Amino acid sequence: MIITIDGPAGAGKSTVARKLAERLGFTYLDTGAMYRAVALAALRAHISPTDEQALANLLSQLRLEWYNGRIFLDGEDVSEQIRQPVITELARRVADSPTVRAFLGHLQRHIAQQTNLVTEGRDQGTKIFPHAECKFFLTASPEVRAWRRWQELQNRGIAITYEEVLRQQHERDQQDAARALAPLQPAADAILVDTSQLPIDAVVELLLAHVRQRLGWPEYPEGIATDRARPPS
Ligand code: DC
Repeated sequence: MIITIDGPAGAGKSTVARKLAERLGFTYLDTGAMYRAVALAALRAHISPTDEQALANLLSQLRLEWYNGRIFLDGEDVSEQIRQPVITELARRVADSPTVRAFLGHLQRHIAQQTNLVTEGRDQGTKIFPHAECKFFLTASPEVRAWRRWQELQNRGIAITYEEVLRQQHERDQQDAARALAPLQPAADAILVDTSQLPIDAVVELLLAHVRQRLGWPEYPEGIATDRARPPS
């Protein structure tokens, strides 16, 4: 079973998807982390995000794994490193690469074959899992989203002004919307949720209620499904 959560940066997707997955006993997948990990690998290998051939070579040798909410590059946990602003910037350029999108799309579908999934990103309900059982599109006002991102960066000790976060976010929004391959847009059958005024836990409850209703599982016990994902070797 697949539940997709798409939406712009700062809409609360990651926290909501993680908590929803916990409540259902599903695997949580952060596809943005995958694009970030590829960006980190490209940076380390001095590869330009527009060099398709070099990216293809890189991907053919790369071991990219997702386990227990963490992302691993050739066995190394890079979950923290991929949150640096330099990677944020590079990830959005890497996300324009058809080679990278095809590679990661394949990997995401492969993971979905092994486990029940709550997957979040930009294209999960539209391109990767058009037949997902339940789709959500989370959004919030630009100011609220930028404020959340700014707080997150502050907590990580990254010095940046709120205005700069808002400016960068505006750029990313435009780029996400204009992307030729997988532009950010809600799937026709996605449930739209504006999280501007809602605390995270209320959003999780709202989504959970929709999941139960959509699947006709009013009595569905939480945590019934098992996560069969394997640790990276
Ligand atoms: O959600 P995020 O900021 O961690 O995503 C990192 C980048 O990857 C961002 O520029 C959007 C892009 N992305 C994408 O194109 N498709 C996805 N499914 C997930 C993320």
